Amino acid sequence: MSKVTVRDLCKRFPGTVGADGVSFDIPSGQFLTLLGPSGSGKTTTLMMIAGFLQPDSGVIEVDDSNIAALTPNKRNLGVVFQSYALFPHKTVWENIAFPLKIRKLAPSEIDKRVSRLLELVRLEAFKDRSVTTLSGGQKQRVALARALVFEPPVLLMDEPLGALDRKLREQMQAEIKNLQRSLNVTAIYVTHDQDEALSMSDSIAIMNEGKISQMGSPEALFERPNNRFVAEFLGGINLFPITAIHSEGASHTGKLAIADAPVPCCPPIAGMSEPKWLGVRPERVRIGSPAGGHFDATVMKRTYLGGTMLYELNVADFLLAARVPTDGASPLPEVGSRVSVSWPAQSAWPLA
Ligand SMILES: Nc1ncnc2c1ncn2[C@@H]1O[C@H](COP(=O)(O)OP(=O)(O)O)[C@@H](O)[C@H]1O
Ligand SMILES: [Mg+2]
Repeated sequence: MSKVTVRDLCKRFPGTVGADGVSFDIPSGQFLTLLGPSGSGKTTTLMMIAGFLQPDSGVIEVDDSNIAALTPNKRNLGVVFQSYALFPHKTVWENIAFPLKIRKLAPSEIDKRVSRLLELVRLEAFKDRSVTTLSGGQKQRVALARALVFEPPVLLMDEPLGALDRKLREQMQAEIKNLQRSLNVTAIYVTHDQDEALSMSDSIAIMNEGKISQMGSPEALFERPNNRFVAEFLGGINLFPITAIHSEGASHTGKLAIADAPVPCCPPIAGMSEPKWLGVRPERVRIGSPAGGHFDATVMKRTYLGGTMLYELNVADFLLAARVPTDGASPLPEVGSRVSVSWPAQSAWPLA
């Protein structure tokens, strides 16, 4: 396992920018996900690290040595794509053995390593099958085994589960994560699926228009996004327009455009530009009896989602969302009711 450093990676295409100053550090053995909408520069960044795309500028280091000038082969990194890119005329065993054969390992060593990987991805029984006879999940496990069999220090994956249905995708997420941990390989993973990123990553870099908008642990990004793009990309959020933040000692309040009394919130992050919004996740909004909270609202709509009830509430024509557990511990007011809205101070934070 190795640490990876990327500094100021840039790639322009005619009329558009692929990557615009991408920088990050990944400690040895950690799992970083590049998360962002389609066209945000995830694949461009990953392909430059893999060596399939030449950067205009920037530094790519694995364990402090710059690999930017090396051919993909010389970089020795494991790569898995959404399209499995397996050799269709070869068996499972031959596909996995291929990287070892081109590296001219001894047959006994090849046997040993392929057997170990077959066991890790649970495909021993399929080793002599042609890969064309496998299911999507099995093909992706062969692709993973092939990418890992030569013990690369870093594994790069570009939307590897994009072609699978949801249930299989969730199962494969867990398998990839277990494999990455047990082999202790440093991983860079690309996806546009926020749940996948939240569940698999040690750290997530959210990409927008070729730039990293914010990077941090899944918890930090979900609980403390520092800008509107990240807040909205990672799940539902209420963004209240604010006119001012007041601080008095350790207590902070925000003046919402929609309510008279200031509401409690977190302090603005040091050095952030003038906050324009107060962000509150629907999961953190509490609904109570009228006049008992920060302000009152009318229930416009409610939708039963199993574990939670999703509410749409109206305050002075501002629509806010609340998710209330359906466990019987919280009241579930009907459409048309007047309710109060509140939240714990630490669940509301200023955003730029
Ligand atoms: N080979 C290329 N030629 C021209 N434009 C490209 C090429 N590859 C990517 N782009 C453009 O660069 C931007 C980023 O693309 P990409 O890295 O593939 O995004 P993502 O993987 O996040 O969906 C997009 O606007 C895309 O159209
Ligand atoms: Mg892509």
